[in-house]
Amino acid sequence: EKAGFEHFMMKEIHEQPKAVRDTLNSVLKDGQIDLSEIGLSDEEIQEISQVYIIACGSAYHVGMASQYVFEDMVRVPVRVELASEFRYRNPILDQKALAVIISQSGETADSLAALRLCKNEGIRTMGIVNVVGSSIAREADNVFYTLAGPEISVATTKAYSTQLIAAYVLAIQFAKVKGTISEEQYCTYIKELETLPDKIQRIIDDKERLQWFASKQANSKDVFFIGRGIDYAISMEGSLKMKEISYIHSEAYAAGELKHGTISLIEDGTLVIGVLTQPALYEKTVSNMVECKSRGAYLMGLTTFGNYNIEDTADFTVYIPKTDPHFATSLAVIPLQLLGYFVSVAKGLDVDKPRNLAKSVTVE
Ligand code: M6R
Repeated sequence: EKAGFEHFMMKEIHEQPKAVRDTLNSVLKDGQIDLSEIGLSDEEIQEISQVYIIACGSAYHVGMASQYVFEDMVRVPVRVELASEFRYRNPILDQKALAVIISQSGETADSLAALRLCKNEGIRTMGIVNVVGSSIAREADNVFYTLAGPEISVATTKAYSTQLIAAYVLAIQFAKVKGTISEEQYCTYIKELETLPDKIQRIIDDKERLQWFASKQANSKDVFFIGRGIDYAISMEGSLKMKEISYIHSEAYAAGELKHGTISLIEDGTLVIGVLTQPALYEKTVSNMVECKSRGAYLMGLTTFGNYNIEDTADFTVYIPKTDPHFATSLAVIPLQLLGYFVSVAKGLDVDKPRNLAKSVTVE
């Protein structure tokens, strides 16, 4: 059942190119996005004035990354909320908003409660859900199914990757309908999405280097992930992967916040992973990495092929293929999944069933 892999997590990491391709193909028709099966018409999209993305854990991190994509492409306000916070704070909701609830299982108690709250307030709801017929899928007004297939490992990988695709597709279609991108840009974005499965495959094929690096880092006490913008959202997911399966304390910080307190935690040899996929923010994050280094940090850089001057700063670098910066999360997350996996294996831990965690969190 593990198809020759030692753990479900590694099997599911390898299933990502197919899961991403399947999810994308399910909403493409003749090279265009077609949301008719989801039941969201262009007229309805036109009416939507803002978007709330509500989720827990990794699904929340998908929301964080999507917020940048959505606001940049569509120019409508997007709020990303932790379901467990949203539901208890009497939120002020706009009747013309769309609430997008992201959940692999479709059974997460807080996400389901947040969905019900939105429905009670008369807000239109959409579920981005993997498990067919789950509670969130049944109760949402519209469902965008991710086609990841069954995900067994507690640490999500392929569901996360397909949720990102769903979010990109929505952003691109909203942007087209609302006229914030040209027809040409629309086609370019879709073509770029179609290249992602092969690029993900290339990163997976290169996993040995990460295995080596992970074996050296297995005794780390703390790891810090830093980035700006989308790279901050990627950092959050990288940090969660690390802590949930390797039991190494890790934190994600917006790189610009380091100076406001966190940098005092950097000691000699502390591993700091800088995520640098966004050209506009590259230099800024490099300078934050330099600041960490001068306090003794050991630096890993995660950036795009071509940014070779990172090697002047970083002690170890992982390169990912080039893509449109909006979609960089889909590529940058893969080495971070692999890193968490290999550290966990190096420590001899139960990768697929980490302590204290359940695959589906149905208690509040
Ligand atoms: O089933 P859901 O997508 O609603 O689950 C949400 C989180 O519990 C989940 O993403 C969790 O954070 C993962 N174990 C992370 O790998």
